Amino acid sequence: SLSDPQTPAETTVTDKFAFAFDIDGVLIRGGRPIPEAVEAMQVLNGKNPYGIKIPYIFVTNGGGKTEQERCIQLSQQMNIEVSPGQFICGHTPMREMADKYKTVLVVGGEGEKCREVAEGYGFTDVVTPGDIIKENPDTTPFRKLTKEEWENSRTRDFSNTVIEAIFVFADSRDWAGDQQIILDLLLSKGGVLGTRSETFDEGPPVFFSHNDVVWSASHDLTRLGMGALRCSLEAMFKAVTGKELQTTAFGKPQIGTFEFATRLLKQWRRATHGIDAPPETVYFVGDTPESDIRGTNEYNKHAANTWYSILVRTGVYQEGTQPKYIPNHTVDHVLDAVNHGIDREN
Ligand code: G3P
Ligand code: MG
Repeated sequence: SLSDPQTPAETTVTDKFAFAFDIDGVLIRGGRPIPEAVEAMQVLNGKNPYGIKIPYIFVTNGGGKTEQERCIQLSQQMNIEVSPGQFICGHTPMREMADKYKTVLVVGGEGEKCREVAEGYGFTDVVTPGDIIKENPDTTPFRKLTKEEWENSRTRDFSNTVIEAIFVFADSRDWAGDQQIILDLLLSKGGVLGTRSETFDEGPPVFFSHNDVVWSASHDLTRLGMGALRCSLEAMFKAVTGKELQTTAFGKPQIGTFEFATRLLKQWRRATHGIDAPPETVYFVGDTPESDIRGTNEYNKHAANTWYSILVRTGVYQEGTQPKYIPNHTVDHVLDAVNHGIDREN
């Protein structure tokens, strides 16, 4: 049976179906692998009674590092080789905005890491909150830069700098300071720090790499995520100006993310497995009904019924509640999800 997988001598790659995995709450929690996840990866790689290998990709809303670094980390955690050619994180689609905006504020993540990510995407002039605090420490009355932050921040004159867009790449490590700086820009005359608009409608656009209000980390209960920062910022803008703030979120459940995933899977299957025809079914395994299940189900309507949503109980979704978006199937953990897909195909 599948619960006692054996590796047959010969394995063939199936062109019929494929898997796509969410990461946090499905494979990883708080930096540690979910126990069944490592075996689930082995099953995909041929340790199943049918002797088939099943192509797969990863689609996470998380981020904060380059795709390359995230893949190295995931490879170690899952004990498999993960290539950037099978990996999308929340901020991956932001690379397509690098031509459109010159000077941008990049928020979130450890240290100045996200500046490096943005520059890797081709953004040519990246400002961070650290640069702004370094130039004027009065910006954030209760936040002082650490020695390291001071050294990694850049010096420039913001009085003649137009910040054209704001990108929240990863979770903020300092909500108060980061929100103050974002709000300053939203209230500015055309994106110049230190100025105040009279109409509050000329600030730069704000982009979030995803909209997860909560996510599954090492705590037993869900933790606040980037979507919560978005709610907070919109509410603050309203309280200060009386106006509505429109912001944009990438990531799941956006259809664009699933289109991106479909293109990636197509390239991955062709490049590594020589498969040209599209898969009949893509099984998406996720833990967050609002992002993973909603996105998969909605995309499925555009994708000729080829995507199939599987909800696991190891993350945001917990037993006993009715998920807001109904999956095609629900299982305890990712190993059961993989076995369910294989069973359905055989
Ligand atoms: O910050 C990451 C989190 O909100 C979700 O990550 O892998 O569950 O899409 P993931
Ligand atoms: Mg998740």
